[in-house]
Amino acid sequence: MSDELAGKRIVLGITGGVAAYKAAELARLLGKAGAQVDVVMTAAATRFVAPLTFQALTGRPVFTSLWDVPQDSPLPQPPLRAPRLAMHSQSAAAARSMLRETPPLPRKGQGERGESQRDFHGSGMAHIDLTRGADAVIVAPATADFIAKLVHGLADDLLATLCLAKDCPLLVAPAMNCQMWEHPATVRNMAQLRADGVSVLGPASGAQACGEVGAGRMLEPAELFDALHASFQPKLLAGKRVLLTAGPTFEALDPVRGLTNSSSGRMGFALAQACVEVGAEVTVVAGPVSLPTPTGVTRIDVTGALEMREAVKSALAGGLDVPPTRQKSALASGLDVPPTRQKSALAGRHIFIAVAAVADYRPAAPAAHKIKKGAQTLTLELVANPDILAEVAARPDAPFCVGFAAESQNLAEYAEGKRRAKKLPLVVGNLVQDGLGGDANVVTLFDAAGAHPVPPGDKLTIARAIVRHIAEMLHAQN
Ligand SMILES: Cc1cc2nc3c(=O)[nH]c(=O)nc-3n(C[C@H](O)[C@H](O)[C@H](O)COP(=O)(O)O)c2cc1C
Repeated sequence: MSDELAGKRIVLGITGGVAAYKAAELARLLGKAGAQVDVVMTAAATRFVAPLTFQALTGRPVFTSLWDVPQDSPLPQPPLRAPRLAMHSQSAAAARSMLRETPPLPRKGQGERGESQRDFHGSGMAHIDLTRGADAVIVAPATADFIAKLVHGLADDLLATLCLAKDCPLLVAPAMNCQMWEHPATVRNMAQLRADGVSVLGPASGAQACGEVGAGRMLEPAELFDALHASFQPKLLAGKRVLLTAGPTFEALDPVRGLTNSSSGRMGFALAQACVEVGAEVTVVAGPVSLPTPTGVTRIDVTGALEMREAVKSALAGGLDVPPTRQKSALASGLDVPPTRQKSALAGRHIFIAVAAVADYRPAAPAAHKIKKGAQTLTLELVANPDILAEVAARPDAPFCVGFAAESQNLAEYAEGKRRAKKLPLVVGNLVQDGLGGDANVVTLFDAAGAHPVPPGDKLTIARAIVRHIAEMLHAQN
């Protein structure tokens, strides 16, 4: 799922909120993705979830104290990436033996990331050693108390101290009662935290453990995982606004039936996620699909081609003229995005990616009531749908347009033909038998320079390759 996280060293800080139980799932997801996770808990956090849970999930010692330095844990040479000190007493013996057996992992600067070599000298101080060589610290959940500590640079426990001493990015996922979140002190603290360069993930809104409803819920573990993953991506599309269409359209025949196709929307949603990961602002206009909205993506649900065309036109014109109930915005719960984003911030687009499998035809006159069974044959009159991509590409202010060509044969001929006919800089061609509706795909990119086959893979991996190609083309244009 996430090759970028494999081999990364993540320090997962957990503070004293009810959402601490969700951190267990985050630790599991990170471990599954191949990351090495070192958990550091505040004393309050250990009241909510036992350190043993995290030790079992990560296979590593859990750290809770600034002072609890085990005497019989000599610093290994060459140094382990893992910190050796101040582990939770419950797991100290097991952890020490584990640490002795842990083979050294490549550290920052030792080749694979091409960074300059940094000498590592285990200091015997957990608040220093834990983050040396770490790729990121993520605090989830982050209490109001802990956020206040971060803002003021307090260092009265292990987690707060290592956040001050760290030399890697810090991400925090606030979780608290909605009144606490809206309190002027917290509002001030959050502004300062952002100004200090900390990435703030969420929070989301909704029902809270205390029974109240409002902003302050911690993001779900999968969303935090995505956010952490995104934080490691080069920001190739930073400052770019991307509009995508995804999924099938459903052309109504009557109130219960319609013409549609087997597009799952997965390729479009994977592209939306890949664009967000590299720093773009992303809106997806989605046909009827039941996929979760990727973190940080604004979603507009539509049904038929005409509705999709209107939503696209509206988004290109600088607004989202659709009823608010039809917008499923993940912005309020996404990557460091203020929850009250304004319509004007979505005005204009730099890139339009038409992934949706828009029906070429729709019934000329959908029946107002359910069509009753009668004669042996039923003739439907169909009329052509607008070509949304061609319309956008023909605009004088056209964004960088990317088309998709799903063909059952003659892929190169049809895809390149589509690119030329619609004057598109880029068409992604795939055979329907390779990708439509499934999890994986095989695509070839067609641009003015020729055909560029992309190695087969899951749709997210392919989406990332497509986004890199788009970024390269945009870069070459400028
Ligand atoms: C049952 C219970 C639930 C709590 N939940 C939260 C919470 O979700 N968010 C928060 O900021 N504080 C919460 N608190 C308060 C913190 O636990 C308290 O401020 C504590 O001092 C935080 O310590 P820490 O920041 O060192 O982990 C809760 C307290 C209790 C008793």
